[in-house]
Amino acid sequence: MMSTTFDLQNVSEDYLVDPYRVLAALRAQSPVHKNTDGTFVLTCYADIVQTYRDPMIWSSDKRATFKPKFGNTPLFEHHTNSIVFIDPPDHTRIRRLFQSAFTRKALAAFVPRITSLVDEYLNRLEDQGQMEVVEEFSFRLPIEVVCDLLGVPRQDREFIRGWANAILTALEPTLIQKQLDDGNQAVVDFKQYLRDLIAYRRAHPNDAQDTEVLTILADAEADGKRLTEIELLHQCIFMLNAGHETSTNMITHGIHEMLLNPDQIDLLSENPDLIEPMVEEVLRYQAPIQINNRRANSDQILSGVTIPADTTVHMMINAANRDPAQFSKPNRFDITRRPNRHLSFGLGVHICAGNALARVEAQIAFQRLFRRFPKLALTIPAVIAPRLRFREVSSLHVSVT
Ligand code: HEM
Repeated sequence: MMSTTFDLQNVSEDYLVDPYRVLAALRAQSPVHKNTDGTFVLTCYADIVQTYRDPMIWSSDKRATFKPKFGNTPLFEHHTNSIVFIDPPDHTRIRRLFQSAFTRKALAAFVPRITSLVDEYLNRLEDQGQMEVVEEFSFRLPIEVVCDLLGVPRQDREFIRGWANAILTALEPTLIQKQLDDGNQAVVDFKQYLRDLIAYRRAHPNDAQDTEVLTILADAEADGKRLTEIELLHQCIFMLNAGHETSTNMITHGIHEMLLNPDQIDLLSENPDLIEPMVEEVLRYQAPIQINNRRANSDQILSGVTIPADTTVHMMINAANRDPAQFSKPNRFDITRRPNRHLSFGLGVHICAGNALARVEAQIAFQRLFRRFPKLALTIPAVIAPRLRFREVSSLHVSVT
């Protein structure tokens, strides 16, 4: 019955709070499932890996999908110029420029800054005795880090939050006109802001850090070419958006899952080396991005089902991460799990360019929090936001004893 009734465009409130039970049933009954709009939902790990691995067959180009949704608007320009929605060979050229910005040196430079930010939030927790984690910790850290990474001055960071929210909200499957208007205005304002910032940096080159992505991307060349202005502005907007909401949710979910599983806090206290597999397990268990999409360039067969050319597939990362063919006891949160080849950062040519940074943020945040406050407790049940594409805890109240 499930296989005939499931429709990703029309899921229940219960699904939004807990998609995993429904997706497990769908994987068992209809692993390549046709939605009422003709798109397909993939829930098997192996099928999703196959789609990630071949970008020439499974395209990330969203022009055909976004044209009817956004028309000829700033949102259309933004999404269709962002690295994540571009196919090779342009993708290869832009990604090569990213590689010159996301170096080991840049990552290492962030460790002391992340540590001091985390300690600042934890000092506040100790002073107050309690905290709402999203507002006072897990939202603040990634936005500071990604703005440092790009080189956005501290006093401007509140604007970034508003613009990022408006642009990402406009990616939800159902929208009202105001959300579209706000998203379009945010792209216009964000572009102008970055244009001014780049001009300022060019006029004051000594103000910039040598690991600052904005200036590295503006000056770097691949195949003897720099990014065009439009390409540069949209990569920066994309990174500022991609780099904070996802990491916020990773941190909040990690704290939440540990508090729901106190035996895992004890395990981490006994063996601090578990911090790396712990972060991987948080990412597997509550993937901050739940769905990626691709479009078939030609007729394809997955799990025996034909997917016609030009059809969109929804790759359910949340289902792949709990596929029993890949993960034993997939519904168990187990920080000792190894190997743990989750798909929360995607796979293949588009694999998350910020994954090493996100992992370091999480490792430092969880390590310092649980070492300092092993008796951290939930004061009221957490609130899970009813969103399809992003997995979000919208509030998490904790106390220290
Ligand atoms: C927990 C945090 C994060 C998660 C779960 C996450 C997830 C993802 C996923 C699933 C993709 C692949 C999309 C696709 O294949 O269609 C992706 C791409 C990307 N992410 Fe992340 N991300 C995170 C943090 C970050 C951070 C901190 C940055 C930058 C500062 C970042 C920058 C990017 C970029 C630039 C891409 C596009 C790569 C490409 O298309 O070649 N992400 N991310």
